Order: sequence, then C-alpha cells, then structure tokens
Amino acid sequence: MSRSAHPAGPRHADVLTEGHYSAPPTDLNALDPKVWSRTVTRTPDGQVTVGGIEVARLAEEFGTPAYFLDEADFRARCQAWRDAFGPDADVFYAGKAFLSRAVVRWLHEEGLNLDVCSAGELTTALDAGMPAERIALHGNNKTPEEIERAVAAGVGHIVLDSFQEIVRVAHIADRLGKRQRVQIRVTVGVEAHTHEFIATAHEDQKFGIALAGGEAAEAVRRALKLDGLELVGIHSHIGSQIFDTAGFEVAARRVVALLAEIRDEHGVELPEIDLGGGLGIAYTSDDDPAEPHDIANSLREIVTRECAASKLRTPRISVEPGRAIVGPTAFTLYEVGTIKPLEGLRTYVSVDGGMSDNIRTALYDAEYSVALVSRSSDAEPMLVRVVGKHCESGDIVVRDAFLPADLAPGDLIAVPATGAYCRSMASNYNHALRPPVVAVKDGAGRVIVRRETEEDLLRLDVG
Ligand code: LLP
Repeated sequence: MSRSAHPAGPRHADVLTEGHYSAPPTDLNALDPKVWSRTVTRTPDGQVTVGGIEVARLAEEFGTPAYFLDEADFRARCQAWRDAFGPDADVFYAGKAFLSRAVVRWLHEEGLNLDVCSAGELTTALDAGMPAERIALHGNNKTPEEIERAVAAGVGHIVLDSFQEIVRVAHIADRLGKRQRVQIRVTVGVEAHTHEFIATAHEDQKFGIALAGGEAAEAVRRALKLDGLELVGIHSHIGSQIFDTAGFEVAARRVVALLAEIRDEHGVELPEIDLGGGLGIAYTSDDDPAEPHDIANSLREIVTRECAASKLRTPRISVEPGRAIVGPTAFTLYEVGTIKPLEGLRTYVSVDGGMSDNIRTALYDAEYSVALVSRSSDAEPMLVRVVGKHCESGDIVVRDAFLPADLAPGDLIAVPATGAYCRSMASNYNHALRPPVVAVKDGAGRVIVRRETEEDLLRLDVG
C-alpha cells in the first residue's frame, strides 16, 4: 500500500516513527475523483453532494454513521468491466466485497454474474432473482449442506478447492442425479505484492491445489474420472488490492500451460479459465490502480498468445472483481464527536463509528482518506487521526490525514472508498449497531440494508 513521508514533518517528528502521512494537500476542500465516487461534488456553498443530494440532508434523513452507495457509479463500473471483457468473457462480481438484494438486482440488470462463498450469499443471490446458472460457488471449506444447496439450485459452476472436495461434490451430485459443472482452483506460486493476509497464490496458505509438484494435474485426473462432475475449467485467484498486474499475467501463463498438459495427457481441451479478482483501488491520492480495459486487454492477449503457441483453442476467460466494482462507489459518513489535540503529536478526532464499521485499518494497516463534507473551510490543515468510539486504542479509521483546524463537534466527515469489505466485515463489537447502506441516485436516498437496532441485538440474545 502506498505510503509517503511528510517532507517537513510535524513537530516532535521523532515520536511519529511510522511515517504514514503524506504532505498536507494544498486544498483541503478538494475531492480527488480517484477516491470519491463519480457523482460526488462540492457545491459553491461548500456542501458535498452525492447523487444530487447534500450529505447534511442525507445525515438528517438516515443518521450517522452510514454508508452511502452511489448507484450510478456502481452500475457504470459494472458496465466498464463487462465492456472491457466483451461477449467472449464473463465477469463474476465477488459478493464477499458487499452483497445485498439490491446489489444482486443491479448486477443482474447490468449483465454480470456472481461469485458467492457461503450459504448466506447464495441465499441472498437466489432470493433477489439471480439465475442460478450465473452463480459460482467458492470456498476452501464448503459444508456438505452448502454444496448440496448449490448443486440442487443448479449453480453455473462450483470451484473445487481440495482433493476431498472433488469427491464430496461428485457424491452429492450423484445422489441428486446431477452432473455438476466444476472448475479446479490452483495456486500458481505467484507472490502477489499486497498485505500477507490477502495474498492467496503462494503455496503456504489454505486455498487451492498447488500447480507445483503435479498436485493440480492429479486433481484434474481424479475429477475427470467422476461421473458426477463435468470439469470445465481451471481457476486462479492470486490475492486482493493488487496494483502490479504482472502477477495476473504470470498466473494466466501458468494456467494455460496446465491446459496444454491436460490436453496432452487426456485429449481434453478445457473450455474455461477464471483468473479471479484482486485488482486494487485508490484509497488515497497516492494510489494508481489499473483500469478494467487495460487488465482485460493484457489478459486476453496473453491467453490468446500462449494458447496459439500450444495449439490450444482459446478458452472463455472469466474474472471476479469485487473491490474494484463496489469499493470506490461508497463513502462512510460520520459525525465528529470529541476532538482531542495532543500537544506536539496530533489531534485525535473521534467519530460515532469505528472499527465495527471499518476493520480494515486495524486488520491490514489499510490507508484511507477523509474530508470535511458538511461545509468547506479555509482553516489551516491539522494532522489528525480519525478514531472510533470502541474500547481499544487500535480502533483507528484513518491513521494519518489532514482536516481543517477549525473542525468542531457536529461537523460531518466522510471516508471514501469504503464500499468493499467494510459493511461486509462489520461487527457488533461493544454492541455497536451496524450502520445502514443507503443507495443514492437522482436526488434520493434509499435504504438497501437498514441500520441495526437494539431490538436486533436483544432478539439474538435468548439466554
Ligand atoms: N475471487 C476470489 C476467489 C476471492 O477469494 C476474492 C477475494 C475475490 C475474487 C475478490 O477479490 P477483490 O477483487 O475484491 O480483491 N477482506 C480483505 C479482502 C479479502 C479478499 C478475499 N477474496 C480486504 O478487506 O482487503
């Protein structure tokens, strides 16, 4: 993740050993379109609007903290991915980034498919009307019940993640009198340049079957022998929040090499390859993510070239972006509470949410941006740490950022690029009530996931 040092350094810079912060931006009122969703603007009177509505009005109507999701931006990103890959490829949105019934309907309307990784995600997808054949089931430890529900529903394919699962899925399909389309997930041995918790293609981790040592080839041998399975492809997912696209290219080459080996050994040309998700997004102005059409062009070119060299028919390519679609489309709106200046260090700005609505900073040391959105300000920049209201000092939302020095309790601040892995990883820590997700479009907000209530908490507490 990007990181640059403050050239001058604040006072007592020796205490700030981490160097997470960038130089103060020249204009604290500016909203960098790289990190804000596309309908976000600041009006001449200083208010920030999204989907044509002022955030202060949204706060009044829906409360804070809350996630505001720019529906037009979500749909535009779906279209960009679909157009980049074209009719000969499939885009599966990774539901783990954020899933709700409204999102499923948008995906359906925009012609995307859906990757689910649990019974809960599968239920949401089916309930919202996603056709089963456009759903893929993932997971390193799918339960027999999850497999059975997916096979019975008729999902498009299941991605097999282990030798045991090959047999499990085959037995369940046999019992249900079905032949299940499957892909085999391989680990291609690429070290993706991202946080170690979200890198998945090196060998020492729990996902997939290694290409190295012939394990993946053995998995293919076994899958091809089982009547309950129709092996249609090979799957690779190298990790998440990746900027350097070289890893995807190496993965594509290695997967095509396996297809050639399979053809040579079994006389079978598998018709599909899936290269997973993982494309990074801009959380701060320092991040420069690749565009969908660039990644599509380079993957298509590599696969076509490698297949031609091995005299293979070019398989149908699929990808599974999650973060790159939903991440940039939402921001979290907070109300400023306590402001605590620590002389010579920085100012702690407490908001009405925290690690319960965004665990990514604590978990991955993730970086975020923040802006004052209920008004503009010409005050001097002040180095702040935006923290939550939870009972631990690691409860940090934005580690180092600049906000205007006249910031006051009651101001609204927003953290952009929180559409992915924030609501979906939210918790009830300290009995916090998980915030709503409000879709904003054409001058109106619509709750698509409602705010939790104390009744919700008590309903689960049956002791
Ligand atoms: N496909 C598979 C098989 C995956 O495991 C994932 C993410 C994706 C696609 C989507 O990856 P994306 O395009 O969203 O990067 N909680 C972490 C990210 C975990 C990603 C898990 N798998 C975070 O907040 O950064």
